[in-house]
Amino acid sequence: MASPTQPRHPAWWKESVIYQIYPRSFKDSNGDGIGDLRGILEKLDYLQDLGIDLIWLCPIYRSPNDDNGYDIADYEAIMEEFGTMDDFDALLAEAKRRNIGILMDLVVNHSSDEHRWFQEARRSKDNPYRDFYIWRTSHDGTVPNNWESLFGGSAWELTPETGEYYLHQFSIKQPDLNWEHEPLRQEVYRMMRFWLDKGIAGFRMDVIPLISKKVGLPNRPDDFHEGWLRWYANGPRLHEFLQEMHREVLQHYDICTVGEAPGVTSQEARLYVEEDRKELDMIFQFDHFNIDRQPGSMYDRRPWTLRAFKQIFRHWDEALAAQGWNSIYLGNHDLPRIVSRFGSDDPAYREVSAKMLATLLLTLRGTPYIYNGDEIGMTNVHFAAIDDYRDISARNMWQLRRAAGVPEADLLAALHDFSRDNARTPMQWDDSPHGGFSTAEATWIDVNPNYREINVAQAQANPDSVLNHYKKLIRLRRQHSVLVYGEYEIIDEENEQVYAYLRKDAQECLLIMLNFTPKELRFSLPESVQFTKSETLITNYQAVTLSERTVTLLPFAAVIFKLT
Ligand code: GLC
Ligand code: CA
Repeated sequence: MASPTQPRHPAWWKESVIYQIYPRSFKDSNGDGIGDLRGILEKLDYLQDLGIDLIWLCPIYRSPNDDNGYDIADYEAIMEEFGTMDDFDALLAEAKRRNIGILMDLVVNHSSDEHRWFQEARRSKDNPYRDFYIWRTSHDGTVPNNWESLFGGSAWELTPETGEYYLHQFSIKQPDLNWEHEPLRQEVYRMMRFWLDKGIAGFRMDVIPLISKKVGLPNRPDDFHEGWLRWYANGPRLHEFLQEMHREVLQHYDICTVGEAPGVTSQEARLYVEEDRKELDMIFQFDHFNIDRQPGSMYDRRPWTLRAFKQIFRHWDEALAAQGWNSIYLGNHDLPRIVSRFGSDDPAYREVSAKMLATLLLTLRGTPYIYNGDEIGMTNVHFAAIDDYRDISARNMWQLRRAAGVPEADLLAALHDFSRDNARTPMQWDDSPHGGFSTAEATWIDVNPNYREINVAQAQANPDSVLNHYKKLIRLRRQHSVLVYGEYEIIDEENEQVYAYLRKDAQECLLIMLNFTPKELRFSLPESVQFTKSETLITNYQAVTLSERTVTLLPFAAVIFKLT
């Protein structure tokens, strides 16, 4: 059950708490309705007070924003709407002054079609940039193979200039880069050094398992049911490329790297993060990302169970127990809000369940990533019409399924559950118009109407708020290194209502109990958990005590006991 006791190599990034910022939605400093770098700078004191160590900035590079910055037109320039390079340098310096480092998003599976490389490449077959992208001829007037874009439709687009198709695994405006071509790789490494030499703290690497493609780009078999990404991920040269990147760039800096890794199993993860392989520090796994969705679909619900959820975290913890390290996240800019998805956004339970999820996030073994807004318990948004949605994925899905005759009501319901825009509505700072995010007439996407009740100002004024609970948990994590390095041992994994586990090392043993239901219940510890005394370190209710070996857990209760 428990992972073998192994010395953990200490590292600053294992002890860090990371905060993910979606710049477009964080804070608008100049009243144009779009978040920007100066806006983030204004909020650094807020982040310092929260207690985080690192910021992961979603892409801020020059981009036509087909996919909100994940389509990059110039890797060494700042998106005009977000500010200037001077603003970036100021942000970096001011963050550093507060002991906060910045991780940049590295999006190198694809660029924008407006990138200079692509503009050149599409012109002619002998253009020097042609091989920066992936081109195929069609022999029978149909697309070169059956690969699909994650955002819907074929992954191939014809260019009239040469009559050839280019590959795009995301939108038409996101042509895939050709990592087989050495000059492309050298350009990427040079660009990475440009940012690292400025003093950034590392990179989050977008869809990194996709950069190496299957030889010959074979058709995806009709009976391949492992999910959309398994067919495209982990190409034959992937680890060779990552090791080369490590040799040429990463090893020369004291930084933190995390690869977004859809389509990677916990066993395959070891190839990415075991120290002696010299590739990455961490990856983001996708098993719980997809736990409530049909395989291969972003919008079709399936029921999830707490047991399956616990198994996922145990498998990943075990896989990387001896070597490597996990990242822990519950939400991000591609997912629904965590309180709506894994807790409850019913006003009766919203705060208590948000605190319960915070307890999980900050006490599993691995580096925790907080997504902006989750620290105040922001919820999913229920926009009334497709026109209110901005995400390319939502809009494409709507078009394709409407054309196939699916009723609007069903599609709206799917968006309410799964739209990435749930996590992209503006940060709710106070109860002034647009939640204090912007002074503009209209913002790029509407603010969730619940900003009058759910906002930072309100949370700061209330000692029992979700925000203050996050602060306490972050402090607790600093005081108890067992929460960083200690063993993770699950208790009663079969239990469908309570998530309970131990974190222990030679000095301390902490017991964490989380009620994932809106019901009051009793939980009894198995005999295997031995102790004589228990002390409550933190809970989301007034008091919880362990009498004998049993505890009563109120709806969505979370408690950490120190056992001696
Ligand atoms: C990643 C990003 C997502 C983006 C996609 C294409 O999954 O997190 O937001 O749309 O890659 O870059
Ligand atoms: Ca702005």
